[in-house]
Order: sequence, then structure tokens, then C-alpha cells
Amino acid sequence: MKIRFQPHPALAASASPRAAILAFATLAFLLSACDRQDKVSAAVAPAAAATPAPATAAQAALARLNAPAAPLSAVAEVGRKIFNDQSLSASGKLSCASCHNPDNAHAPANGLAVQLGGMHLQAQGGRAVPSLRYHEHAPAFSIGPDTKPDEDDKGAVLQAAEAKAGTASPARTVAKATLQPAAAMQEVVPQGGFDWDGRATNLTDQAGGPLLAANEMANKSAAQLLAKLKAAPYAKDMLQLFGPAVFTSSSLALGEAYYALALYQKEDRSFHPYDSKYDYYLAEQVQLSEQEMRGLKLFKDPKKGNCATCHIEKPSRDGHFPPVFTDYQFEALAAPRNKAILANRDPKYFDLGMCGPWRKDAAKQLNYCGYFKTPTLRNAATRQVYFHNGVFHSLEEVVHFYVERETKPEKWYPRGKDGKLNKYDDLPAAYHANVDVTDAPFDNKAGAPPALTDDEIKDVVAFLKTLNDGYRPEGKTIVGK
Ligand code: HEC
Ligand code: HEC
Repeated sequence: MKIRFQPHPALAASASPRAAILAFATLAFLLSACDRQDKVSAAVAPAAAATPAPATAAQAALARLNAPAAPLSAVAEVGRKIFNDQSLSASGKLSCASCHNPDNAHAPANGLAVQLGGMHLQAQGGRAVPSLRYHEHAPAFSIGPDTKPDEDDKGAVLQAAEAKAGTASPARTVAKATLQPAAAMQEVVPQGGFDWDGRATNLTDQAGGPLLAANEMANKSAAQLLAKLKAAPYAKDMLQLFGPAVFTSSSLALGEAYYALALYQKEDRSFHPYDSKYDYYLAEQVQLSEQEMRGLKLFKDPKKGNCATCHIEKPSRDGHFPPVFTDYQFEALAAPRNKAILANRDPKYFDLGMCGPWRKDAAKQLNYCGYFKTPTLRNAATRQVYFHNGVFHSLEEVVHFYVERETKPEKWYPRGKDGKLNKYDDLPAAYHANVDVTDAPFDNKAGAPPALTDDEIKDVVAFLKTLNDGYRPEGKTIVGK
């Protein structure tokens, strides 16, 4: 059962003079949580401290729309080059941008459930490629209390205050999440992190994954990757920025390359432009159409779509953190098995999300089998495949699934040879109890009318389309912005 997400008090601070400091402190924390504290906070401190807290969410939204794009730092500039460098893949044909296409909201523009990688571009990826947009405030992975701030946050506020005062101690690390025994799991929830299963604690951690994965960029070893970085046209920039020793060990060189990739994704505004029609609406610059408004209402209504429970549509109360349409938490929604993924031809193979096969540290945490991270819905309308296994191909189909999974399961799951419905067919029976059946719209029983009518589903989809980046008030959407 999902409790409506409460932003951390530090994020939800009212517009008091302290709000600016707290918000800055939190921002500095979020930016630095996954990187070296000293470098990142030094880069953001002066500008952030000078910005007063906007009084209302509308003003904050408008300020974001009007803000000039800041130039990239030298490190992020190296990150940009690495992001687009196809020579870093075994095939010589893949860069980060191949799968995370900047012209399609940093996600694939094609309709393949999973993309192809490896040496000969014939190896299927394991999961649908998520968009890289709107991750800049994503917290590091943790398992902890849902609503109350944890020790890390208190430390982070202190840490950011120290950084601002120039007294930061360089080696304070953010605690890595520890998985606790099952008995203690009742009050705590998994949240944050990267990848569908949250296995990469932060963006810097994440970057190594694709570069070394055999079905993606397929470097055979860290040493091989080091050699490629050393030969890259931006090697001289790396020497200059990270010192003459940078290429003497692969852990040093790769660490800096991953850090540069993370910084690029955080700094470059194309990863978080906040310029959808919905943002113009929040800034009180445009109206939503009647249909879009109906869709928004259904999206929020706890008895109808109830979508906003997990895909949060509101900014933080002080307006500093715009809505990103995810609470960063994990759920088991029991997407149907996707036969387009070849691994699924083996009836014994299951992608269990948090408890494996790629995530290893929670393999025994059986109450998390089937759990996947709630993705942002910004730019969802630019995608051609949905959910972790890419089983759905349109937003209409997704919303139909939400309201019909329990009321009409025979539409979504196949029958076995015995004629029996194989409900939740992509999850072994032992884990069916993990599937969310308490939150609307999953709480309607078989045969009951679905929570949304066909017309209402169209309204919700019309609303979702207002979340595409690159909207301009004249009604024109700039694709690929
Ligand atoms: C062959 C396609 C492919 C390439 C190339 C690729 N990725 Fe990905 N990326 C994926 C897939 C698939 C996932 C989801 C993996 C999972 O959940 O297990 C992903 C996930 C991510 C995520 C996590 C997003 C989230 O929602 O949590 C980040 C960040 C990311 N990739 C960055 C990169 C970077 C940086 C590069 C280049 C070094 C890169 N990717 C190259 C396919 C690719
Ligand atoms: C209980 C939390 C929860 C609720 C309620 C919820 N979602 Fe989701 N949503 C998720 C999770 C978790 C996923 C990813 C599931 C997976 O891949 O297995 C997801 C995935 C999606 C996706 C696919 C996005 C992508 O990039 O693949 C769309 C679209 C979506 N939800 C829309 C909605 C709409 C519309 C509603 C309301 C009708 C809704 N969601 C209600 C948690 C929720």
C-alpha cells in the first residue's frame, strides 16, 4: 500500500528566509551525493547562494523557463565528449547517445522493446532503455523510512553548510544503503538509485555499467577502456583537468570519466529543460485544454487514475524542486511477459527487478522480487515502448492495463495448456503476493467496471502529452530540445 509521498521537510520548507538556505543545502547535497563533495559544491555554491527563493511555485516555474542556460564546466564538457564517443564501444558504432538519443528525450526513438549492442550489434539488451531526463534530483538508492528525514539528510545539510563556509572536510562519504533483514522491512521502502532495479547507487556508479556490459558497449576490461580513453581526442583535456597521473591506472581514469559523464548529465540543461506545456501551465503562461484538465484531474483523483500517488505531479512546497512525476520508489506492477525479449523464451528465466538477475545485493530479499523503479512520465509520449520490459507500445495501452489488470486479466495474460489463466505470467507464483493490489486503480476486482472509462483514458493520455519537453506557448513543440 502506498502512502502519499511527503517531500522531506528540507525540500518542503515554506518560503521563509531559511528556505533559501535549506533548499540550497539540499540542492548541494543532491548534486554532491554521488560525486566528490569538494568539486561539485565548489562549482555550484556561489550561484545557488545568490538566488533568492521564489515566493510561489508559479514564480519558480517561470524563473526556470526564463533562466539562461549556464555554460558547461570543463569537466562536464569532457563528459559531453565521452557521451557522444562511439570509439568507446567494441563495435565502434555505439555511444551513450545511440541508446539515449538526445533528439528523443534521451531515449530510443524506435519501437524495439530492448536495444541491440555488443561487438556486432546483435546482442539484445536486458531491459527497455529509460530516458536520461529529470534524474538530477534523484536520491541515491536507500532502503529507509518513507516520510521522515533520515540521518543522511541531517548530515547532508551540515555538509552543505560546511561547504558553503569553505570548511568542508573532503572525505565525508554518503552512507551506502544497507539491506536490512526482512523482519524490519515493514516500515521502510526502497527508493532512489539508477536503473530499473536501483542497483547503481548514483549516476557516477551507473556510467560503468553500459561501457562494460557485453550486450551494450562491450568493453572486455577496464584496461581496454583505459586504452581507448587514452587515445581519445579529449585525452589531453583529461590530463589537464585530472592531472598527469590520470592514465596511470584504470581505476583513476575510469573514475574520472564516469564522474565527467555524471556531471554532464547534471549540468547540461537538455537533460532537464522543464519546458513542457505543463511547465508553462504551472508558470501560469498557458491554459490546459478542457480535455487535458479533465485528464489531470483523473490523474490525481485517488478514486480514478490515482497516478499522482506514485508519479508526483506537484513541485515541492517552496517551488525549488519541480514536479518530476516519480516518487523514486519501487513497485511490483506485474507487466505481462514480453516474448520479444529472447531471454524470455526460457521458461525458467525471470527478470525479478530488485532481486535479480542484475541486481545482486537483494537476491534474498524475496519481498522485493518483481519490484521496479517508478519512472518519470515527462516525455513518456515520445516513447514507443513502455515498462521495464518494453511490453507496451502506446500510452493508451498502458492506461488500459492499469485499470484492467484486475478487472479483465484475461485480456493481459495468456492461458496455460490446461486452459487456466496464467495471471502475472512474468513473475513466479511464489512472488505474486508482492504485486500491488491495494492501490487504486488496482483495487477493483475481476468483473467490476474499470476505474477509468475509455473516454477518461483518452483524457489521461491527453494530459500525459502535455509533459513533452520543448513546448512553446504558440503551441509549437520543438522536438529534440
Ligand atoms: C545499448 C544501449 C545503451 C547504451 C549504449 C547506453 N545505455 Fe544507458 N541504459 C540502457 C538500458 C537498457 C538501461 C536500463 C538498465 C537497467 O535497468 O538494468 C540504461 C540505464 C541508464 C541510466 C539509468 C537511468 C534510470 O532511469 O535510472 C543511466 C544514467 C544511463 N543509462 C546512462 C548511460 C551512459 C552515461 C551511457 C554511456 C556510457 C549509456 N547509458 C549507454 C541502455 C544503454
Ligand atoms: C503504485 C504506484 C503507481 C501508480 C499508482 C501508477 N504508476 Fe505508473 N508506474 C509505476 C511503476 C513502478 C512503473 C514501472 C513498472 C515496470 O516497469 O514494471 C510505472 C510505469 C508507468 C509508465 C511507463 C513509463 C515508461 O517510461 O516506460 C507509464 C506511462 C505510467 N506508469 C503511467 C501511469 C498512469 C497514467 C497511472 C494512473 C492511471 C499510473 N502510472 C499509476 C508506478 C505507479
